[in-house]
Amino acid sequence: MNVTLEKIVNLCKRRGFIFPGSDIYGGLSNTYDFGPLGVELKNNFKRLWWKKFVHERGDVIGLESGILMNPKVWEASGHLKNFTDPLVECHVCHMRFRADKPEDLKSHQHQDFTPAKNFNLMFKSFVGPAEDSASEVYLRPETAQGMFVDFGLVLDTMRQRVPFGIAQIGKSFRNEITAGNFVFRLIEFEIAEIEYFTRPGDDERAFDEWLEFMEKFLVDELGLSRESLRRFEHPKDSLAHYSKRTADIQYKFPWGWDELWGLANRTDFDLKQHEALSGQNMKYRDPETSKEYYPYVIEPTGGAERTVLAMLLDAYSEIEGGRTTTTDAKKEQEVVLKLKKKLAPVAAAILPLSKKPELQEVARKIASELRTRWNCQYDETGSIGRRYRRQDEIGTPFCITVDFDSLEDKKATVRDRDTMAQERVAIAELTSYISDQLGR
Ligand code: GAP
Repeated sequence: MNVTLEKIVNLCKRRGFIFPGSDIYGGLSNTYDFGPLGVELKNNFKRLWWKKFVHERGDVIGLESGILMNPKVWEASGHLKNFTDPLVECHVCHMRFRADKPEDLKSHQHQDFTPAKNFNLMFKSFVGPAEDSASEVYLRPETAQGMFVDFGLVLDTMRQRVPFGIAQIGKSFRNEITAGNFVFRLIEFEIAEIEYFTRPGDDERAFDEWLEFMEKFLVDELGLSRESLRRFEHPKDSLAHYSKRTADIQYKFPWGWDELWGLANRTDFDLKQHEALSGQNMKYRDPETSKEYYPYVIEPTGGAERTVLAMLLDAYSEIEGGRTTTTDAKKEQEVVLKLKKKLAPVAAAILPLSKKPELQEVARKIASELRTRWNCQYDETGSIGRRYRRQDEIGTPFCITVDFDSLEDKKATVRDRDTMAQERVAIAELTSYISDQLGR
């Protein structure tokens, strides 16, 4: 369905997915906190990404490099010089805008702007007590440079042969000027990315393979609908300073098509730059031919928060009049978050039919057993219909109800979020039942 951003923002705040940052102090622009359900969803995405992009492939290995790096890194990478947005300021109200976003400028009431000035998006800080240029450091605006700087160390310690990739998921920081659409544009966010080192000449084929691999993951693993995704080729004249080719995978957000993930062919730009500035050899020596060369680098990249937003938008569905069949739930609009089951923040909810101690005891035992494997909720308040609705709204794939029959037949009723089909399952087999359904 075509869901508005407002509905997602409300659901996220109401149900503990995403909160405005520093809310009690009136917030801080472009910052958000991931609440108890949001952090589960984001972690599930990151875990699955790592499984598919690192462990299962066999040609990619992981790294966690520092957020703070020697400032020479940013000189070599070109970020100090090139990572800028053109900025104008209104003479009247001093609001700042990006000069390359004419739609924002046109709608401003005063129309009296300063000439455009380049504004670097990197956050600056200082190491040690002196705030002088000798102690300047930057918060990294991308994770990629850690993989380039450690290229030689990874090669030496892990006995890798080209082609291979280094993966990292980590925080990045950008002093974005324009207000973002919820968590689409943040000043602090997590990037999941790979630097994939290939032989020059093999780079174009590797690029096409990665593009397909990424799309397949978004559809098959994250469950995004194919119609909500499309490719966008960056025109040659607007490529980033390091790129030979960049293709975005765009998602159909409520405000229109926009970048979800990106894929760039960074060529040998970064390794050569680091060799020039550090004086260290950044070439790869082919063990068979003994020839030395700079590998070309293909870079699949994607923001974790943006991905979570797309997952929420894609999963959101409303059912007018509701669909819960129990008589005690009023017929009203029902929200079902049809997240891919294995990614749902709560894998199962355990619901004793009433607060009778004998039912509570069985239900609590089931909850503590399932909690050894997955994040689960135990809920005994309100009618069963209301409790189902609460779980549907946060995307819980299974509701497990313990009733008086359970005391006799040692079974519980498992209700499926999407079909609402109910099945009696032996309590002793609940773990394997859920594990089979979730595939984890
Ligand atoms: N190393 C390449 C690189 O950083 P990028 O396209 O600038 O490429 C990578 O950023 C990904 O990070 C994007 O595809 C997008 O998903 C996400 N991203 C970029 N800027 C963001 C921001 N301000 N807030 C949230 N996510 C962002």
